[in-house]
Amino acid sequence: MRTCLLIVGALTLVTTAAAAVSAPTSYSSLPDVAPTNHEVALSAFSTLVRRSVNQHGERTCVLLDRNVAQIPRTLHAASNAAKESLRSRAYEMTVRQRQDPGIHDGRVETEKLAADEILEFVGVVPASDNDEKEYLQGEQEMLSKECNVVPWAGVPHKLSIKESYGADSPGKLRLDSHDPFGSLASDEHQFNMDDPRQVDGEPQDEVRQLVHSGHPKNRIDMVLMGDGYTASEREKFFGDMQRLVDVYKESRESGIGVNGRWKDTAFKLYRDGTELRGVYTADPRAARKACKLTGPYACDFPSLIANDPYYGGLGGEFVISTSSNKSGTVVLRHEMFHSMGEAGEEYDGGQVYSGVNAERWSWSNPKWKHWLTDAEPREEQNVIRAQDYAWYNLANGPYKVKFDSDGQWQRWSLKISHSGVDQDDSMEVYLDGERLDWKSPGGMDRDFSEWFGDKGFSAGPHELEFRQGRAYDGRTPDEEKDRPIRQLCSVTLHEFAGEDRYRFDNSVISAYPTYDIRKRRTWRPSNEQCLMRNMTSVHLCSVCQEGLWLKLLNKMSLLDDVRVKCEKDELDSYTFNIKADLVPLGQFRENQSNRGRDERYEVRWYLNSTHQPEYDDKISLTNVKEGLWEIRAEFKTLEVRKDPQGLLKASKFFSVSRINCE
Ligand SMILES: *[C@@H]1O[C@H](CO)[C@@H](O)[C@H](O)[C@H]1NC(C)=O
Ligand SMILES: *[C@@H]1O[C@H](CO)[C@@H](O)[C@H](O)[C@H]1NC(C)=O
Ligand SMILES: *[C@@H]1O[C@H](CO)[C@@H](O)[C@H](O)[C@H]1NC(C)=O
Ligand SMILES: *[C@@H]1O[C@H](CO)[C@@H](O)[C@H](O)[C@H]1NC(C)=O
Repeated sequence: MRTCLLIVGALTLVTTAAAAVSAPTSYSSLPDVAPTNHEVALSAFSTLVRRSVNQHGERTCVLLDRNVAQIPRTLHAASNAAKESLRSRAYEMTVRQRQDPGIHDGRVETEKLAADEILEFVGVVPASDNDEKEYLQGEQEMLSKECNVVPWAGVPHKLSIKESYGADSPGKLRLDSHDPFGSLASDEHQFNMDDPRQVDGEPQDEVRQLVHSGHPKNRIDMVLMGDGYTASEREKFFGDMQRLVDVYKESRESGIGVNGRWKDTAFKLYRDGTELRGVYTADPRAARKACKLTGPYACDFPSLIANDPYYGGLGGEFVISTSSNKSGTVVLRHEMFHSMGEAGEEYDGGQVYSGVNAERWSWSNPKWKHWLTDAEPREEQNVIRAQDYAWYNLANGPYKVKFDSDGQWQRWSLKISHSGVDQDDSMEVYLDGERLDWKSPGGMDRDFSEWFGDKGFSAGPHELEFRQGRAYDGRTPDEEKDRPIRQLCSVTLHEFAGEDRYRFDNSVISAYPTYDIRKRRTWRPSNEQCLMRNMTSVHLCSVCQEGLWLKLLNKMSLLDDVRVKCEKDELDSYTFNIKADLVPLGQFRENQSNRGRDERYEVRWYLNSTHQPEYDDKISLTNVKEGLWEIRAEFKTLEVRKDPQGLLKASKFFSVSRINCE
């Protein structure tokens, strides 16, 4: 039996929504004369597959999970381009490698090749009777392309999870699950729409709403779910979370598992070993289910927060981070941008370089051409000399990284990450035998250190050496057992041309080379501005920022609703007032100090197809004439330079007529 609680937050959602539709003389959601913003029922599918490659290169795939979700909300912007893009996404199936956590995906290359990969097949199709069948066919095609051996191939597999919020039975949520071995579990829950604390007549997991910015149906909602918090740590959880909506789900044990073994916690989070790196969930179904209990539409971006004081996380279906007071936010915002912006890495040595911030083919024609600082594209000149995910326990002796230079460069930088080095004498760093200045950033958590050199290296071999402070050599495991290991996590070393050919200036947008785990080169927009490269940065580069606007506005409309109010006096004459509910941005932001540079809405009104200039930029119109009205709103911001799908525009036709007034 689970103990469950739920606090008021979600209530406000429901009461606000009810107020908007209950005023007797108002009407909204008019039958559209020519619908422009409309909802399309879509289904999203994803299949998780573990692929192992043996030494003969044979790829064996095992299905881990299959997930089918109805997406009842796809309120799209009005343009035809947007609708077209929706159509072109239909039936598209992509394979994406599961994103690894933070800046630490992968050991040395050879190990990585032998390791298992998690593939995720994703498909989005319009909801119809055939969609399951089509997805399963597509999945089979993908598997036969990506794998040689699929042990269960040919065995019909049922859906692992199906969830639906019935339009005919509001508040009903149904989950059907089938594990890969075919056993079925069905779950049906009835929400009480008047009191979301009641589900199936019982109080549920505790939900607290931290930020309310509108009805979840037309908002992007983030949900944070804690793992490894016992009942007595409940207040610690709410203290740890200061963002959006939290789901508190009690765990029996405190903290999370290590060495691939999970504890008895809500979502069974664990680390692979003891190193401060990936955190995985062994129970994604529990997480899906808990998140759905925030109510319809409210679980767009779920994340699981481990009750663990140190660095770790993962991107993917659930963004995973920890409650670390030093790195929890750092990891969360990086991983969140992977999910929300559908963007790839910008740091070196990763695996997934895709999305708005990665150019894979050529520096001379980057996706972000419209953001370039220079009139003509150019490639910034650098070279990577060392890239090593060491994950090395310094108690095992010195760790060396050797590299060669050709002596042709003018500057260098060395970046490392480490954990468990809480004292200035915890670690020593040497470059070609000379000790580099290093001070502990304090604390046991994973952290970063960097050095710059304003001369290039001489031609020939060079060597970096890392060792723990000599005072700690020879300590017995017993003396060390209550502290994290002194660990060298990663090492990256670059050489650069002078400022004329490689600009460190973070305001420059150009093509900066990034080297993946196999040293293949892609390009990113800025040097170190973006938190997708520099984990501790708090900025997105302008290219990512534009990408984020577009990705999020692809999921919602800038126009919540248009409401018409009519009044009839004793003489049977009517007055009509119109109110547009735009998502409060620009001049309509409540707190104008959060307003972006030159951010504003342009609003135009048309009556029977004729522009009504007296109402320009107004959102409340009084005493208007009857007829067929249209509102066209456009959000302008310097942060978006290109909007080919018209996502920053919203429009709606509606009639103002005494017929709707009775
Ligand atoms: C941050 O977490 C560390 C590790 O748990 C702890 O020692 C430290 O006191 C915490 N600092 C603050 C400001 O809470
Ligand atoms: C990364 O960002 C942090 C915080 O803004 C900054 O202190 C650091 O110098 C940056 N690193 C690089 C290599 O620019
Ligand atoms: C408005 O926003 C600014 C900047 O984010 C913040 O410092 C200030 O406290 C906010 N004011 C209110 C009343 O919330
Ligand atoms: C707009 O068109 C409708 C239908 O043709 C008409 O009844 C109405 O009077 C027109 N309104 C104005 C202001 O011309």
